[in-house]
Amino acid sequence: MYRRTFLTGLAGLAISGPAAAQMMHDMGNMTGHDAHNMMPMAGNKLVLPEGQPLRELPRLMNQASEAGLFKARLAAEPGLVRFAEGLDTPVLLYNGGNPVIEAHEGDRIEINFKNGIPGEPTTVHWHGMPVPADQDGSPMEPVVSGSERIYAFDLPEGSAASYWFHPHPHGLTAAQVYRGLAGIFLVKPKSDPIPAEYGDTVLMFTDLRIAEDGSMPASNMMDLMNGRVGDHVLVNGQKNPALAVAKGEKRRLRLFNATNARFFRLKFENAAMVLVGTDGGLIEAPVAVDELLLAPAERVELIVSFDKPGTARLTTLDYERGWMGPGKPEEAGMTLLTANISEKPAPAMPPVPVKLRTIESLAKPTVTRRLVLTESMKGMEMEFLINGATFDMTRVDEVSKVGQVELWEIVNQADMDHPFHVHGTQFQIAEHEKDGQVTKPSYRAWKDTVNVVAGETVRILLRQNLPGPRMYHCHILEHEDLGMMGTVDVQA
Ligand code: C2O
Ligand code: CU
Ligand code: CU
Repeated sequence: MYRRTFLTGLAGLAISGPAAAQMMHDMGNMTGHDAHNMMPMAGNKLVLPEGQPLRELPRLMNQASEAGLFKARLAAEPGLVRFAEGLDTPVLLYNGGNPVIEAHEGDRIEINFKNGIPGEPTTVHWHGMPVPADQDGSPMEPVVSGSERIYAFDLPEGSAASYWFHPHPHGLTAAQVYRGLAGIFLVKPKSDPIPAEYGDTVLMFTDLRIAEDGSMPASNMMDLMNGRVGDHVLVNGQKNPALAVAKGEKRRLRLFNATNARFFRLKFENAAMVLVGTDGGLIEAPVAVDELLLAPAERVELIVSFDKPGTARLTTLDYERGWMGPGKPEEAGMTLLTANISEKPAPAMPPVPVKLRTIESLAKPTVTRRLVLTESMKGMEMEFLINGATFDMTRVDEVSKVGQVELWEIVNQADMDHPFHVHGTQFQIAEHEKDGQVTKPSYRAWKDTVNVVAGETVRILLRQNLPGPRMYHCHILEHEDLGMMGTVDVQA
């Protein structure tokens, strides 16, 4: 049904035939200057308001009255958002926004989902969560336009973490996500080692490209190659919002990279960051960090101490992710969030606990798999491959077994970084290898997405605890749509 080529990728992104043909023509005749005008950072950038108080994302309300059950209705629908003064931008939203679902370990989840997107299938994929394969919104389980389905699953003990959810329909994921569909799923533990005094603040990063008339331009060929990068990075839908804190205050911040293709190398100026959690929840003990890289789909939990009055800005540093062609966006020097720290001191805060939890070590793999990531350019057709193939829903690439510990070797032989993600479980990074140099992580952590740098090999340890077909793929969503994805069938 879908040819796995560059050109069908365009069709998948809803560019009609004549438009695609025109674009091919334009690309062929392009001068350096024209090329620049097609780039995300073109000169007609709209000014978005900055410095407004950080808003909280809307909560998805629990409709159940029984304890231990979370029941709600969720609909994906077209909507309008006002990003720039006087302009309404047509977008896609879940219940009119980007909601936060909050539940607890041990809870039963029942979400009645409706696809209200005209003319397009969609799914809800619970990124990183240990949910049964047929409830995980994979491309094999599309919800057709206008129809409903129930997603039901139980949250096991030990699953507390910062997850998110987004559409995953075959060939349409990138467009549905950049048009606005994504939400946060917080699973809370029965008892939380992080002091309640720190609060719990969600910071969801998205990446907006907006034209002068307020619309979102369709993706172009550069977007398909590098992944679509926008003109404005937003936090909870706002540009550089302001967070008010008191001197001496510590805050728990959960950062979510919900962009299609942005790599954030982050630094907090004038505030100290301590890493306490990764994709799959808390790590064992806090780790002080000066900066961190947050690749597409990755999450971290931080404790940030605001000890000096004044302002503390969350900013980006330069990062080389192997941009192809012209139009490399500015990565450095963006301010994502500004904390305004009062002179008046906060009431005394409890110290960061020295011990957070215990993480089992995944040892003694019984199976090793090798997945080689490559890119190839055939004329105007770009392909992104895993072990020489693009995604085919009818093909099983790997066969695994429930409960089996495996070592996966992800070998990036391509020219750009590819953030690698596996569905259905969390993994542990065993080591990174680049240019013959092997580095092991200094702490144990659960992850569901790991950036594999161009030329690097990352070895991960994982175990699937539930049967069924699971996807693994690059989380630059344009690459995923173009087929940089495979299927592991986990047998009972
Ligand atoms: Cu977040 Cu298969 O994706
Ligand atoms: Cu996923
Ligand atoms: Cu990729």
